[in-house]
Amino acid sequence: MARKHSSFVCQACGAASARWQGRCESCGEWNSIVEELLDSGVGAGPKSAVANSRPIDLVPLSGETESAARIVSGITELDRVTGGGFVMGSTLLVGGDPGIGKSTLLLQAAAALAENGRRVVYVSGEEAVAQVRLRAQRLGLGDREVLLASETNVETILATLKKGPAPDLVIIDSIQTLWTDRVESAPGTVTQVRTSAQALTRFAKSSGAAVVLVGHVTKDGQIAGPRVVEHMVDAVLYFEGDASHTFRILRGVKNRYGATDEIGVFEMSGGGLREVANPSALFLDQRDKDAAGSAVFAGMEGTRPVLCEIQALVAPSPLGTPRRAVVGWDGSRLSMVLAVLETRCGVRIGANDIYLNVAGGLKINEPAADLAVAAALISSLTGASLPADAVFFGEISLAGGVRPVVHAGLRLREAQKLGFSRALTGRIGSTDAPAGLSVSEFSELAELVGRIAMNARPAEAAE
Ligand code: TYD
Ligand code: MG
Repeated sequence: MARKHSSFVCQACGAASARWQGRCESCGEWNSIVEELLDSGVGAGPKSAVANSRPIDLVPLSGETESAARIVSGITELDRVTGGGFVMGSTLLVGGDPGIGKSTLLLQAAAALAENGRRVVYVSGEEAVAQVRLRAQRLGLGDREVLLASETNVETILATLKKGPAPDLVIIDSIQTLWTDRVESAPGTVTQVRTSAQALTRFAKSSGAAVVLVGHVTKDGQIAGPRVVEHMVDAVLYFEGDASHTFRILRGVKNRYGATDEIGVFEMSGGGLREVANPSALFLDQRDKDAAGSAVFAGMEGTRPVLCEIQALVAPSPLGTPRRAVVGWDGSRLSMVLAVLETRCGVRIGANDIYLNVAGGLKINEPAADLAVAAALISSLTGASLPADAVFFGEISLAGGVRPVVHAGLRLREAQKLGFSRALTGRIGSTDAPAGLSVSEFSELAELVGRIAMNARPAEAAE
């Protein structure tokens, strides 16, 4: 029999230690360590996984195989992020802040799949069956043949799923509410969540069903409790958004069966989540065209070009150490752009308070946004608004040069489609500009700065 002992497990990162500490040595989180009872060694793996000594057959890498079978929900924005539908036999984790719309999205996906004749089981550990039914009715999906359960015990859930025909899709909402008899820790602890997720992952592999786990994220954006769950599942999607906006972004962060840089855009309405087929139009919807400090960035999200507005406010600072606040972009990247503006372009900007915001709550990771950020900063500093019909993209080097970026053609076409008539960017080489869009190429950031500072309409000044 396995010896029962306790271990002190960090609820943020899952690291185990032999004694209690105020701060986790592994991830540095304070007050996150909880005593958990374990059956055997660290992490207490499932009993059935104890190695048996029966050998297995090794197979050559070059064998015949079918490509992963997928079930397509028909919700295009969701299917894009999963890489073309849920993969049979795989586990997918959908993370997001409480109240962002995870349950709504998955209920809509469940209903869409049930409509296509799939057997879909929705297990809610948070809501009673009546609450899920009410939500479905509000969404106009009350008549769909989704099978419901309100249950939190993993063994009960698995026994239920194994009874009757195998399901195509199982949704578990949420992983933090599950508990298993196998371990004695309290529900919601790392060990419980990890063991439950393991059991469900094994169920997915053995039954061929696609399993979707819903996970809440903590304030700092990690899936609460175990980051280890992220390693166990085949794909991780984050559902993001900002409480003050109606739109939501589904973003792939890990995907064993597809690309991870895709996003799906939805809008939360009274009747649930609506797909947004043209996100650029949505992100630019409320743009104040004449305001100084606003620049339109032609970005890429996965395979799709997305235009968004970058807003900068440069204000004299009353403080010795000026303030920097960045929403939707990387703060250290902003520092770099500021340093290049100061050092290479002779712009005195560093002593000001600087606020940078990607409008609409979008998060940008691309260095290609450098040029749009620099343009917005200079525009705010000089009070000269940028031309309303111009888009910006280009990466800035530490030497003050503007580097070309990938997918220039796609960005230019998207800009033209949305009615923009000029693009300010690095050298685009042999890329053809679409008709009706004039392209101004820069190799030095200082050239762009000079034009904005000199003239409120930089592209015209060049002509
Ligand atoms: P929910 O899916 O319960 O979020 P999560 O599962 O991520 O915690 O979404 C709850 C929010 O969505 C709630 O604040 C109300 C809003 N909502 C709508 O605006 N319209 C709708 O049709 C529905 C069902 C929810
Ligand atoms: Mg929910």
